[in-house]
Amino acid sequence: MSNAVEISGVSMRFNMAKEKVDSIKEYLIKFFTHKLFFDEFMALNDINLTIEAGEVFGLIGLNGCGKSTLLKIISGIYKPSTGSVKVTGTIAPLIELGAGFDMDLTARENIYLNGSVLGYSKEYIDNKFDEIVDFTELHQFIDVPMKNFSSGMVARVGFAIATVTKPDILIVDEILSVGDFLFQEKCEKRISDLMSGGTTVIIVSHSIDQIKRLCDRVAWIEKGKIKMIGETEEVCNLYTQTSN
Ligand SMILES: Nc1ncnc2c1ncn2[C@@H]1O[C@H](COP(=O)(O)OP(=O)(O)OP(=O)(O)O)[C@@H](O)[C@H]1O
Ligand SMILES: [Mg+2]
Repeated sequence: MSNAVEISGVSMRFNMAKEKVDSIKEYLIKFFTHKLFFDEFMALNDINLTIEAGEVFGLIGLNGCGKSTLLKIISGIYKPSTGSVKVTGTIAPLIELGAGFDMDLTARENIYLNGSVLGYSKEYIDNKFDEIVDFTELHQFIDVPMKNFSSGMVARVGFAIATVTKPDILIVDEILSVGDFLFQEKCEKRISDLMSGGTTVIIVSHSIDQIKRLCDRVAWIEKGKIKMIGETEEVCNLYTQTSN
């Protein structure tokens, strides 16, 4: 079995004082929450993790433990402060709701924009356009600016684009949870289809039921460190027991 992702000694240090502040509001929030005074924060601390090709791998842990930061490092959005990440194959990252979309543009325009970010040609998207829209079931909203979409509708568009082609690695950060149960079932079905075609899936979810349904193995992250890696049932049960 070959490895899809190899993470060795990865740490992520955020320098809060040097963070760019875009607005007075943001500045005041940071000021009053004392974030301006924390100059260093270790969001991840010496993470070592290997994910095999074809595996469905789950990341669980409490809010702020570092799950999304780790996914961003795997996707190449962040460069780790120390350590290295080796990724084999193409990645479709579904990290934050609406990331990769311009909310002033319509869903149609965003399908082309996001498609080009994922490396698809215009011709390819032309061919796949109807299939993408069918998956979203948002036919009558396709020419509406996405700022008027609900979070579930945004997630539908994101998931449909990311999975229209078979990526080697699909990264899904929480976005399924904003979809209604029918859409979640549809996404889980598509994830299963991708899995049977050999795609590696890395999934973050606060729904332990969803993690148990989908994942082969799970890593539990606590305050930026791996607390436990192992078989899904075992890690999830210990997590829910001890986090209470
Ligand atoms: N760009 C950034 N600058 C500074 N700090 C950051 C940045 N991104 C994340 N952090 C901090 O790193 C820590 C981990 O954040 P992260 O988003 O990875 O958590 P998470 O496990 O995904 O949480 P959640 O379950 O709420 O999504 C948090 O304390 C967060 O404030
Ligand atoms: Mg997160």
